[in-house]
Amino acid sequence: MTGATSGIGRETAAGLAVLGATVVIVARDAARAATACDEIRRRVPDARVEALTADLASLAEVRRLAGEVQARHDRLDVLVNNAGIIAMRRRLTADGLESTFATNHLAPFLLTNLLRGLLERSAPARVVTVSSAAHKQVRTIPWDDLAQGTQDGQAQAYPLSKLLNVLFTVELAKRLAGTGVTANCLHPGFARTALGRDVTGPLGAAVRLVLRFQPGPATGARTSLYLASSPEVAEVTGGYFVRCKPAEPGPLAGDAAAAVRLWTISEELTGTKPGPE
Ligand SMILES: NC(=O)c1ccc[n+]([C@@H]2O[C@H](COP(=O)([O-])OP(=O)(O)OC[C@H]3O[C@@H](n4cnc5c(N)ncnc54)[C@H](OP(=O)(O)O)[C@@H]3O)[C@@H](O)[C@H]2O)c1
Repeated sequence: MTGATSGIGRETAAGLAVLGATVVIVARDAARAATACDEIRRRVPDARVEALTADLASLAEVRRLAGEVQARHDRLDVLVNNAGIIAMRRRLTADGLESTFATNHLAPFLLTNLLRGLLERSAPARVVTVSSAAHKQVRTIPWDDLAQGTQDGQAQAYPLSKLLNVLFTVELAKRLAGTGVTANCLHPGFARTALGRDVTGPLGAAVRLVLRFQPGPATGARTSLYLASSPEVAEVTGGYFVRCKPAEPGPLAGDAAAAVRLWTISEELTGTKPGPE
């Protein structure tokens, strides 16, 4: 479970602990991770929860994280790709990638692919990726500029990354067919969280104003928890869900060729392209 130190992720992690899961939370800050674990244990006294630290904006850290998960655990029933940022200032990561693209898309892509073997050995298993209805704002995908994010202005980086979450899920579900591992994504509904706390200027004020009047993060966690645990969706894969129901994503999200193209680009950027047999 990534992004469990705050907001929707913290509520999802607590909800998984209530269900009796052993919850491994991933956080970039050890102190915040410890606080999140303590809070979950306070709310769920018999919770089995542990923390691993990784900055998901770094491909090397995602690789180290995947190694640690595999070294410590011999099964993984559910991977929840929840961590996400809105970054209004264009910033490049240590890998030279635009930070929103790296954190919101490339990290879940790489983590899921590195943990795919473990998920398959644990089948039935599930991958749940937290997207957003904001993905519907994207009109065209800037294919040649995905990694650098120079073309469309930084305001497009977040909606684009959330569209990539849906396309990733569509293609992942196809590639996992027959393995017993499902892949679904969701819009959590707008929820009062820390998202956008670093966004400055009029857009930052607008994001915070909108979120202030939204339901709390526990409501936002419902669809993640549903996809992670409900028997109703045990066999469902490749779906986009809103309020625990299948929903129609934006038109660009239904483009199967785009999903393949994104997969190929992401493999190249993460160095995960399988070699010849
Ligand atoms: N809130 C909404 O209305 C809304 C609507 C649609 C979709 N979503 C999606 O819901 C998900 C959760 O967002 P939220 O609203 O709960 O926001 P949030 O309160 O800001 O939580 C985001 C989480 O992601 C973690 N994170 C960010 N960058 C990271 C990195 N580089 N490495 C590791 N962890 C990192 C944060 O860790 P730190 O504690 O270290 O910052 C935090 O735990 C996101 O994917 C977001 O796009 C939210």
